[in-house]
Amino acid sequence: MIIERNITSKPLAKVAEILSKSEKLNLIDWNAMNISTVDAENKPSSRMVLLKKINDQGLVFYTNFNSKKGQDLKNNSSVAVNFWWRELKEQIRIEGSVIELTDQESDDYFNSRALQSRVAAIISQQSEKIESQESLQKKIDEQTKIYANKGENPERPNHCGLYLIKPDSIELWKEGDFRTHEREKFTKNKEGIWESYFLSP
Ligand SMILES: Cc1cc2nc3c(=O)[nH]c(=O)nc-3n(C[C@H](O)[C@H](O)[C@H](O)COP(=O)(O)O)c2cc1C
Repeated sequence: MIIERNITSKPLAKVAEILSKSEKLNLIDWNAMNISTVDAENKPSSRMVLLKKINDQGLVFYTNFNSKKGQDLKNNSSVAVNFWWRELKEQIRIEGSVIELTDQESDDYFNSRALQSRVAAIISQQSEKIESQESLQKKIDEQTKIYANKGENPERPNHCGLYLIKPDSIELWKEGDFRTHEREKFTKNKEGIWESYFLSP
């Protein structure tokens, strides 16, 4: 997970600061976030993914472009993201849209992963029905052995890669006593400039 240090966008710099805090405290799955998409019938759906990078452009995660979320995003690129850390008593809400990152960036990330994870990504047709968990694991184990014996590196399949979430609204929420939580909201105006204000808890 990469937290870039030179973030100039104020709300993203604040998000990065909170992430650094949770990393330093070694919180379990501190970079896990819930991401919601909507399908063609406007039905929402949520799942956890791991944040891989944050910089001035936004937040990056890795997934299967053909998965349920990938199909939702092809049809509607809007997302809602949520982080929460019990120990920090802080929540972050982000809304925005996604774009796929370049092949080169996805290749670089894919190639940094363990062989078994790369093979699993090739074999697993994420969100599709499978015969059984055992048969899927067997295929992954067999293919991993073949690659390892040959000393070959599998190529990234086109359906796996990185998405960039480009935020247009960010809310930083801090728990307060007796429901006096602090809610600092940032929204991007038409000129692309961030404006900020506080919301009632
Ligand atoms: C803590 C946690 C982290 C996860 N990280 C990822 C991830 O980075 N990428 C991913 O595709 N799935 C990840 N998953 C699995 C997803 O939650 C989900 O099951 C999968 O992406 C399929 O979702 P979909 O069918 O809605 O596309 C993670 C699950 C958990 C619980």
